[in-house]
Amino acid sequence: MDMTTTLIDHTFRKDVRRCFDQQAYALPARWLYDRRGSELFEDITELPEYYPTRTETKLLRDHSADFANAIGKGRAVIEFGSGSSTKTPHLLRAVEPSAYVPIDISGEFLEHSAAMLQDDFPDLPIHPVEADFMKRVELPDAVADLPKLGFFPGSTIGNMIARTSVDLLRFMRETLGIGAQLLIGLDRVKEQQVLIDAYDDSAGVTAQFSLNLLDRINRELDGDIPVDKFRHVAIWNDDYARIEIYLEVQDDVSFSIDGTKHNLISGQRIHIENSHKFGLRDARLMLRAGGWTPLCDWSDERDYFTLILAEAHPYKHAP
Ligand code: AVJ
Repeated sequence: MDMTTTLIDHTFRKDVRRCFDQQAYALPARWLYDRRGSELFEDITELPEYYPTRTETKLLRDHSADFANAIGKGRAVIEFGSGSSTKTPHLLRAVEPSAYVPIDISGEFLEHSAAMLQDDFPDLPIHPVEADFMKRVELPDAVADLPKLGFFPGSTIGNMIARTSVDLLRFMRETLGIGAQLLIGLDRVKEQQVLIDAYDDSAGVTAQFSLNLLDRINRELDGDIPVDKFRHVAIWNDDYARIEIYLEVQDDVSFSIDGTKHNLISGQRIHIENSHKFGLRDARLMLRAGGWTPLCDWSDERDYFTLILAEAHPYKHAP
């Protein structure tokens, strides 16, 4: 077992313990992405109700000339949480980078997607980095002197609460340096029913994706949670402008995890995910708070999804 696996194991155990021992009933969304969870997420991206991936991919395809203009050629593209890197080829074709650095916490995915990409871009130097991007990341020496473009698609930042998302943006600024650019994908506030349907699809794939978290606890932490007693719940929290996802138990249940017994009363919810949605001004304020100056943005004709290009300027005195 390598270092990272041990690290993941340890933090997962700690987070699950806090959830049930301290009756906090919340788990970080990152634990949704084990192998099975990542497969289910890929399935989600193809659902008719799940518009974000389709919409963002189309934006990346349609605006390649704009990216070439605003970003230029020869930068090192640094992708945060690259996962399967499916959207990356469109960007790489547009900006013809000198190097590509995918960063992901899962080394397994990283190697696979880097190899896939290398087939399509045989001359592009690819330097995968296995790291937790919620901290400052040490970039490979090979890209030290290149101008940088951070790429953070998928509205992944929407998983974070305001404070954490600003922390992350500031870490990215440290990682990439002054003068770097950042291309970030953000899901927009829109009609409630469209949002609910995207997170509670009729085929039940999103429900499986959520429930897999309990299976993962059972698999990895020696649990016997009766998964069939739980249901997936997606609600819109208008005050926070976010979809909240819960696992709600339908009956009084007892189970054990790691040899410790737990009881839940019927109706108890475990909060497993937030997916924040943004207005354009919210998005720009968030970027500025994280040290990034918005330069321009691209949206689809329904304003469902937006790509924003921002730059890390030196801090100036302000009135
Ligand atoms: C990967 C965080 C962007 O919030 O839309 C999709 C995750 N969860 N359906 C999102 C997700 C349930 C997704 N992000």
